[in-house]
Amino acid sequence: MTNIVLSNLVAGIEPSPTEETSFLANTLKRQGVDVISFAQGEPDFDTPNYIKKAAIKAINEGFTKYTDVGGIIELKEAVVEKLKRQNNLEYDISGVIIGNGGKQLLYEAFATLCNPGDEVLIPTPCYVSYADQIRLTGARAVFVPTTEENEFVPCLEDVQKLWNPKVKVFVINSPCNPTGAVFPQEETRRIMDFLVENKTFVITDEVYEYLLYDGAKHISPAALDPKYKQWCIVVNSLSKTYAMTGWRIGYAAGPKEIINGMNSLQGHLTGNVNSIAQKAAAEALLGPQDDIARMVEEYAKRKDYMVNRINSIEGLSCIEPKGAFYVFANVKNLFGRTYNGNKLENDKDVANFFLKAAHVAVVPGIAFAYEGYVRFVFAKSLGTIKEGLDRIEKAIGELT
Ligand SMILES: Cc1ncc(COP(=O)(O)O)c(C=O)c1O
Repeated sequence: MTNIVLSNLVAGIEPSPTEETSFLANTLKRQGVDVISFAQGEPDFDTPNYIKKAAIKAINEGFTKYTDVGGIIELKEAVVEKLKRQNNLEYDISGVIIGNGGKQLLYEAFATLCNPGDEVLIPTPCYVSYADQIRLTGARAVFVPTTEENEFVPCLEDVQKLWNPKVKVFVINSPCNPTGAVFPQEETRRIMDFLVENKTFVITDEVYEYLLYDGAKHISPAALDPKYKQWCIVVNSLSKTYAMTGWRIGYAAGPKEIINGMNSLQGHLTGNVNSIAQKAAAEALLGPQDDIARMVEEYAKRKDYMVNRINSIEGLSCIEPKGAFYVFANVKNLFGRTYNGNKLENDKDVANFFLKAAHVAVVPGIAFAYEGYVRFVFAKSLGTIKEGLDRIEKAIGELT
């Protein structure tokens, strides 16, 4: 038998933990187990009809060939218009690139900016893919831990403690996955002033910008002060806003040199994004935006229910997320309890216990570089959320 040895590059990557949890949940489902999954971060709504129609029109018109690597002009212009309208940011199309989801663009941005030995500062808890994407570039992810007491918002002093001349990039993800934190404007400004003074690029991952609750506001960090924009690479996506996770459309905007670099890389990795999805995306950005408010209103109700319910279950607690569609619940009070003779010692044990005893899938905090918590997704129907939490409450009641 061939002895297959993977490259050091690939052997060093951890599989995406959210996908791993979903995979386990799906395996159980295939075995006939009725699993409720709060693991996969995607809307349960269907893509709005006007967007689907644009895709069908593109197919019928034969718009099915390669396009420019960085996206069709029509979509880039729609992005430019959206950035102006929604974010008060002015770019021309040479400062915009269309990619296969925000995920690809994040990698391309890291790869365009970082050399081996460079460092990237990331507030934690953080999105699962940042650290491995950075590792692929040869740079090092350095975590800036936030605290639950401070609502998972990073502060300047913590950033300053870890900054050093090797730091090339800082990542801001607000609203944040997995905490739902929305970073306040004032602290963001203090951090941005420091970073810009120290010539550090900032990747602003804004994929949840529309999903805001209880009066929270999102302002793109690049728009807070004219001097910030040349240091920012704004990354965004249609996945969460328009319930388009499967269409794989994201966009980034930034200094032309950086966008050109990302474009060169993309040309050799994937080439253009699916031509049909690009047409649909242009329609999504320029068409009626009412579906977003409808979905956010529904998420808000689910968030209220989930937060109240989690805080009423013995052993669990959470703070109120201000954005995105996640609750990051503290499970430390379950540590030391026993399930089937096995002691729960960390968040991974708790997630496994939920899956085995309650048939409910959640993602352990360790996946987000932060221990002691698990992430619940509330982009599910109220009925599903209620049933899932009922099961968890019952299972916790049976712990010894
Ligand atoms: C914070 C964050 N950034 C980026 C992405 C990438 O999304 P997509 O590639 O679907 O645009 C996700 C998806 O879960 C996310 O949570």
